[in-house]
Formats: sequence, structure tokens, C-alpha cells
Amino acid sequence: MIGDERQDRSDETLDPQDWTELRAQGHRMLDDMLDYLAHLRERPVWQAMPATARARFHDDLPHEPADLEAVYRDFQELILPYSAGNAHPGFMGWVQGGGNAAGMLAEMLAATVNSNCGGRDHAALEVERQIGVWARQMVGFPDTASGIFVTGASMANFIALIVARTATLGVESRRTGIAASGKSLTAYVSAAAHGCVRQAMELAGFGSDALRMIPTDAGQRIRVDALADAVAADKRAGHTPFLVVGNAGTVDIGAIDDLDGLAGFAKEARLWFHVDGALGALAVLSPALKPRFSGIERADSIAFDFHKFGQVPYDAGFILVRDSEVHRAAFASPASYLRREARGLAGGSPWPCDFGPDLSRGFRALKTWFTIKVHGGDRLGAEIERLCALAVSLKSRVEAEPRLELLAPVALNIVCFRYRGPDPDRLNADIVAELQERGIVAPSTTTVDGKLAIRACLVNHRIRQCDIDTLIDGVLAVGAELAGVSDAVE
Ligand SMILES: Cc1ncc(COP(=O)(O)O)c(C=O)c1O
Repeated sequence: MIGDERQDRSDETLDPQDWTELRAQGHRMLDDMLDYLAHLRERPVWQAMPATARARFHDDLPHEPADLEAVYRDFQELILPYSAGNAHPGFMGWVQGGGNAAGMLAEMLAATVNSNCGGRDHAALEVERQIGVWARQMVGFPDTASGIFVTGASMANFIALIVARTATLGVESRRTGIAASGKSLTAYVSAAAHGCVRQAMELAGFGSDALRMIPTDAGQRIRVDALADAVAADKRAGHTPFLVVGNAGTVDIGAIDDLDGLAGFAKEARLWFHVDGALGALAVLSPALKPRFSGIERADSIAFDFHKFGQVPYDAGFILVRDSEVHRAAFASPASYLRREARGLAGGSPWPCDFGPDLSRGFRALKTWFTIKVHGGDRLGAEIERLCALAVSLKSRVEAEPRLELLAPVALNIVCFRYRGPDPDRLNADIVAELQERGIVAPSTTTVDGKLAIRACLVNHRIRQCDIDTLIDGVLAVGAELAGVSDAVE
């Protein structure tokens, strides 16, 4: 009996027997998603997930099948309304892109082909190599450069650090480890750097004590003179300085380090020069903004994210290394089951898995390829420029309001400010939480010079001037409400 049943099911797969119903359901889902994007503005930017909805995710493993339609209903009811909202024009928190419809459709195509982009000889890798060429052209890297997609800039910065480590200690160090070198390697970054640089030092086995946090100037840019002092002091103390990380847009205020100055110093001091361009590097697509990043083309490696200013749906981080041989030497790990051939599907070496720690990799390149081709690099650059102009407009509104205080210079697309009132740290944290919970607008917070700031980071291409006005009006109204004063401007 059991044997008979097995016999009966031997040709069954997970594909439907009849595609008609699935096709109709798929069309409904696609239409709904396009409607969702077209009418995003009418929704709250965010709403907390009620306990009843959360409880629905505590189910036991389902053993029986369910209709796609029923699962989709759950998605509509339990997931869609409670997304983080970063596609919404009112979202200005953290550093998050809004995605775009062309990229969203490309995701469906990529999932259909289901490419594994770790290696082998197929078109998906040519798409990824094409993005590598475009990335090189954007930042002015030579043809010898290599690049691959990764989850995000956190991973890209980590990879850069590993490449710098191997370049400094030699390929042999991959086998012998750091300790065998007998060297105490030290790295340098500004005190305003993103925490993932510190974490990369920890993950790479150096320990974060080996990362020197260099003081910044009033604009939160690294002080190259202080960097030089720190490197000299470390050399005197017997350490081996090996890496300096420059910021092309710091996470708190968007500060851009003197990348030319850093490139010159790194060359002189024989340090690997890496640029963390997660936040800002894609602004080089704007001819007006590009000069601010002068020197980026002299870096040894650059980490950046297409999912931020590039508006590619998550995730789409990228690591670019000037010298592909050095890049490959840090990761390539020959194995018999990954043998390369001159012909057939195992051709096309080198493979992306030779340039990073991932073997199985999704087709991130396709949504990026669609986004860049559909909109064009100039248009994407113009969007970034528009967002930076909106930041200037927000700054002006802050400066014009006596109840508001600007807390940091506006270098790119981030405005840090606060509402003046009693216990300002608590008050401003509450203002931000209220604005989020009322679904009006979603900035985030950070600390600038020890003061809690409302931080508006304009990355999402759907943000317009009216959203900036909503933010200011919201902060003033909620601030007055919480501080217990009239919101009439004195
Ligand atoms: C300057 C900077 N570096 C690194 C990162 C990390 O990027 P990801 O979130 O893509 O890993 C961020 C994220 O906002 C950032 O702003």
C-alpha cells in the first residue's frame, strides 16, 4: 500500500498540476503590489504590529498544504500593513532607500530563474560583471578592479578589511593566521565612522582595540594631522599600521572626509586606503555633488550600497577593489567540487565566490541592472541631488523656527535638529516616537555632541517638499503638545 502510494506520487513536483489558478492569483498579487506602490502616500508611514497579529507568527510548523490565496491573505492582513515603511515618502529614519517598481519586478524575474551567482558560466554573472564595470566607471577605478554584490556595506567593509589584511601579511597568512606574523596591525578611521568598521576589526581577529578612532573637525571630518600623529605614534610603539578607512558620508551627519588628503597620506605611509561609501558614494552620479568626493578614485577599495541612494530593493551592497588579483588572493579557495573548466557550465572563471566568503549567492545584480537601465545613471544622480537640496530646504526651515535648533552642519542629505524644551533628550526621543506611532513621518534619532537629535536622513526618492513640511509641522505640533506649551511661534 505504502509502496503503491509512493509509485503514484513519483512524478509530482511542487509545481501546480494546472497553472491557470496560479496564474490568476499571481496576476492579482502583482496588481495589488503595483496599487500598493501607487497609493503608498495614503497609508500611515508605520504602525505598530498589534499583539493579535504578532501572535499569528507563533504557529507550529505547518505539515499540510494551504492555498496560495489563503497564504497571500495572511500576507495582506499580517505583514503588509506592518512593514517598516521605508518605501513610504514619510520615511526619513536611519539610512534606507525606498526601492523602485522596476527593481521590484526584476526581483520576480530573478526569483523565477533562481540563479545561484556563486559561479559557473551563465548570464547572471555577466549581469553582475556589467554592474562591476558601471561601478568602476562611476568612481573612476581602472579596468583592473573587481567587484561583487554583497548583502550591504557592513559586509563590504568587512571584505575590504580582509583584503587589506591579506595584502599586508601576504597570502600565506590565510593559512598561518595573523599571530604567526608576529605583527601588531593597527587601523585608522574617524571617530564618526559607522560601527560596522569596529565590528569588522573584531570579526577579522584584530580586536577593536587595534582600531584607532581619530578625532574629527567641527564638520565631523577626520583630522588628517591627527591621523598622521596617531600613525607615527603607533610606529614608534612597534605596531604595524596597515589600513585607513575614509568616510564618504558619515552615518550621523553625512560628513565627507578629505578623501584626497587621506589618499595622499595613505600612499605616503604605505597604508591600504579603503572608503566606506555606504551612505554617499553613489552621489558621484551627480556632477554637482561629485567634486565633494574627490580622491575616492584613489582608494584601494570602496564599499557602497545600491539599496540606499541607488533605490534598488534590499539588499544590494557592493565591494569594489582596485586590484582584482589582490582581491582574489584574499578569498579564492580551490576545491575539487568547484573545479573550473575551459568549456561547459564549469567555465567562466574567475567566479564571484573567488572574491568573497559567499558561495551560494542570489541574483542581486538583476534588480540593480533593471534599476540603472530603466532610470539611467543621470536620473539617479539627479534624484540624489534633489534629496540633498531637500535637506538644505529642511535646514532652512529648522533655522527659521525659534523652537527648533540645528545640531550639525548639513553636508549631504542628513539634518540633525531638535525641539527646544525641558529635558530635551527625553522630549525629542518622545517626539520621534510619537511621530512614528501616529504614522505621520518616521525620522530616527542620534546623538550629536552629547545631545539627542532628531535625525532626518533623506535617502528615499519618494520624499518631496510636502513631506519635509509635514516633518517640521509634526515636530512643532507634537513638541508643543509634549512640552505643554502653545505651538504658536513667539
Ligand atoms: C556610513 C555607513 N557605513 C556602513 C553602513 C552599513 O551599511 P549596511 O546597512 O548596508 O550594512 C551604513 C548604514 O547605514 C552607513 O551609513
